[in-house]
Amino acid sequence: MKDRGAGKERWRVETEVLTRGFDPKLSVGSARPAVFRSSTYVFSSPEAAERSFAIALGKIRPMDGENVELIYSRLSHPNAEILEDHMVPLERDASGAAVFNTGMAAISALFLTVCRPGDALLHTVPLYGGTHHLLHQLLEPYGVRPVAVPAGDGDALDQAIAQTERLALVFLETPANPTLRMTDIARAARSAAQRSPRPLLAVDNTFLGPVFQHPLALGADACVYSATKYLAGFSDMLGGVVTAAQDELLASLRGTRSILGDILQPDESWLLDSRLATVALRMNRQSKNARRITAGLADHPRLARLHYPDQFTDPEQRRIYESQCDYPGGIFSIELDGGKTAAFEFLRRLRITRNAVSLGGVESLACHPATTTHSEMNDAELSAAGVTPGLVRISVGIEDWRDLLADYRQALDSV
Ligand SMILES: Cc1ncc(COP(=O)(O)O)c(C=O)c1O
Repeated sequence: MKDRGAGKERWRVETEVLTRGFDPKLSVGSARPAVFRSSTYVFSSPEAAERSFAIALGKIRPMDGENVELIYSRLSHPNAEILEDHMVPLERDASGAAVFNTGMAAISALFLTVCRPGDALLHTVPLYGGTHHLLHQLLEPYGVRPVAVPAGDGDALDQAIAQTERLALVFLETPANPTLRMTDIARAARSAAQRSPRPLLAVDNTFLGPVFQHPLALGADACVYSATKYLAGFSDMLGGVVTAAQDELLASLRGTRSILGDILQPDESWLLDSRLATVALRMNRQSKNARRITAGLADHPRLARLHYPDQFTDPEQRRIYESQCDYPGGIFSIELDGGKTAAFEFLRRLRITRNAVSLGGVESLACHPATTTHSEMNDAELSAAGVTPGLVRISVGIEDWRDLLADYRQALDSV
């Protein structure tokens, strides 16, 4: 179903995402891709079956422009391939993508593909709670050694990259969930390049990518996404994506995926594919909204702190933001005087924004990370990572920003 035609003309992102990778002739002329729910595919000959298996197992490489016959949908299927092709123009410098049934599946496949027992995995903190759980509860008992570095501390990161033994993977979550603290991707890439063997560098790009932050162009090897968030954009499906700069890494990831059995299903791939054409429109509107709202809230007397890239006061954080991101994005966090009680009261008083975890949807959502998304962390870890009891994370949707600002103001006034 994919058009792998080599040497095709290249257009700008918004055009490519609507035109490349799908040939209507292969779907009875349908202007949009059909859904192919088959679990298995008929080979044109036993020789073609043998060749497809040899390519899938990495024994031989496909020729340039070769249409490799599909095998079985746990390995790949037309809707996953169309979606993967449409991710490429969205992610600057990507050679390809691999799609998974959740963000956690994408992150798990990356960690399991790159790290062996005894290897170290260096990561920034705070980390999304699920990633924290994966590292400490699942991978650490199998001998993978997590090494934590505070987000945004470039010196500590350089030092850890230089000194950590058997360093296989550097994993940056930037901006960090939920403090929005940023880590310098290009600097991490320079440090990693000085090690031999060079550790892989991956970025969780869920908060600002693929529209406002381009880690592969800054030297990262891979980006991971919870596609559940901005890529899908309507809080109505789960998905995950890894984009990468090299085909070899993608081939290994697809190998892991076919054994774990967590490829994104055909219906979900079709749905996510249809959302990619509007991701830039939605994220731009969400970022503009969040900018106006945070500007309007900045001096509210009930706020102890406001975490948002546009409002960064730390010069190093400002420098990273300005050099690494195009726009500040649609997520901000507030810290209320009065700790957890005040945070809960604020959530209870909101009229438009709903109290739910997740983010990136067209509707605004707010949550209390310390007791929900980040509750895996103990009190010391939470406080070291800046996830305070009074912190509320807000994901701004595409509602009218004036209504949202008025809603946050009335909720703050009455706390
Ligand atoms: C930054 C980040 N990465 C990864 C994930 C995991 O994604 P999923 O829920 O799609 O598995 C999340 C979920 O909230 C997240 O916020």
